[in-house]
Amino acid sequence: MTTDEFFRPKARAPRGFVDRRAPALVAERKILDAVAAVYESFGFERLETGAFEYADALGKFLPDADRPNDGVFALQDDDEQWIALRYDLTAPLARFAAEHWDILAKPFRRYAFGPVWRNEKPGPGRYREFMQCDADTVGSERPEADAEIIAMAVQGYAAAGLPAGACTLKINNRKLLDGLLVAAGVVDSRQKLAVLRAVDKLDRLGLEGVTYLLGAGRKDESGAFTKGAELAAPAIQSVLAYLGAGGGGRQATLDRLAGVVGGSVEGDEGLAELDKIGEALTRLGVHEGQAMFEPSVVRGLEYYTGAVFEAEINLKTGEGGGFGAIGGGGRYDDLVARFTGQRTPATGFSFGVSRLAAALAASGAAAKSARGPVVVLALDNAQMGEYFAMASELRAAGIAAEVYLGTSGMRPQMKYADRRGAPAAVIVGGDELAAGTVTIKDLDLGRQLAAGVGDNRAWREDRPGQITAPRADFVAAVRRIVESGPNET
Ligand code: HAM
Repeated sequence: MTTDEFFRPKARAPRGFVDRRAPALVAERKILDAVAAVYESFGFERLETGAFEYADALGKFLPDADRPNDGVFALQDDDEQWIALRYDLTAPLARFAAEHWDILAKPFRRYAFGPVWRNEKPGPGRYREFMQCDADTVGSERPEADAEIIAMAVQGYAAAGLPAGACTLKINNRKLLDGLLVAAGVVDSRQKLAVLRAVDKLDRLGLEGVTYLLGAGRKDESGAFTKGAELAAPAIQSVLAYLGAGGGGRQATLDRLAGVVGGSVEGDEGLAELDKIGEALTRLGVHEGQAMFEPSVVRGLEYYTGAVFEAEINLKTGEGGGFGAIGGGGRYDDLVARFTGQRTPATGFSFGVSRLAAALAASGAAAKSARGPVVVLALDNAQMGEYFAMASELRAAGIAAEVYLGTSGMRPQMKYADRRGAPAAVIVGGDELAAGTVTIKDLDLGRQLAAGVGDNRAWREDRPGQITAPRADFVAAVRRIVESGPNET
């Protein structure tokens, strides 16, 4: 006997990997279906790629790269090559587009959804495995392509069930900050990246924290020091003026930004692109409250080259709203060129489906329970065949049904049916067999009476709680109960 036989592993899921049961999965499915329908209505075709990519194809673009494997889960294949779980759906798309460019109708418009994995520190709304749902246009440099991606995001959030006004799309262009930095004499790419990282932390650290990070650096509460971008004082002032240029309508923001970044080649380019995006958004019916220009949005991923978008949720979630962005995207004109050497402009957006579902659930906007099947009780061992025949008849009539497969008595079986969220329980015991009848319990009614929401008299009419039907008609009787459903008021 080895010691291993005495080893009992502790039953626990790894940190950041979340078990999700039916209600969460139903909510997620609804979001995916709604967003996919919007994407399809704009003519995007679905694509599915595998979970793993070669590590070199994924590249190193994640912001949180101070952990093992640079933020991804990687392993060495038996041919010695490193493969890694995808950290998003964009890098695999760039690989796919580069690999199949010749046969694609261009611009290539695809949508995709599926799990992605990031080896980062888990927290509220921050998982190591989560679901994304993306749409991207590869091969178009038109700002209108960006506008369309933003319009789909706005429509997608509404279709997914976010109440009007609960979500704002914030739009910016990385070229603005680039132009400003060039004009201030900052050309070193590492210094530029440090500025980007500092600005990206505005939400978390506030203006003061960012000012430190633009300069020499910042000491956090724990005493740990983060080295700053080491900008000179005038450059710091320009960045702060730039960060303060938001607010008001899209045109007002553009006018203010022109005063701060205008005059540099890149800055002017960025402004012209934003102007075109704004114009197209208006024509697409996206109003100012739904999508605004916000200079502080720079986004963490490093592959963005121009316009960037981020979706913010304004729902009361009961957790201080600390979920972070519920979606993001932008223009990445150089990602396909990593493979082909040919610049291929591209833009897209990703719904953070898991985070959105968690935020909706926390705000109470999502359905709390999933409906279970009708449960046929197993009260008499000699009748198991009959119980299975009855469940089959229900399923053939389009009603989800199962036979209780445990060995407990009637009360625990009723409790089981209730915990499953069954709309009804079907009972055939000795009395029913002798009489050729079936007893059907209305469990929706029972649950709602117990919860004190079944007092609505109109709803209770015709709901006696339990009915007896002839065996030959029991399917119709069950259907009446299933279809009358729980009282929603
Ligand atoms: P991202 O901002 O890294 O962008 O992720 C998009 C969304 O995924 C985020 O806004 C957030 O809702 C969700 N998300 C990110 N990290 C986590 C996490 N650890 N746990 C839960 N949810 C998370 C991208 O991934 C880009 N590929 C988007 C894109 C598409 N750009 C162009 N096309």
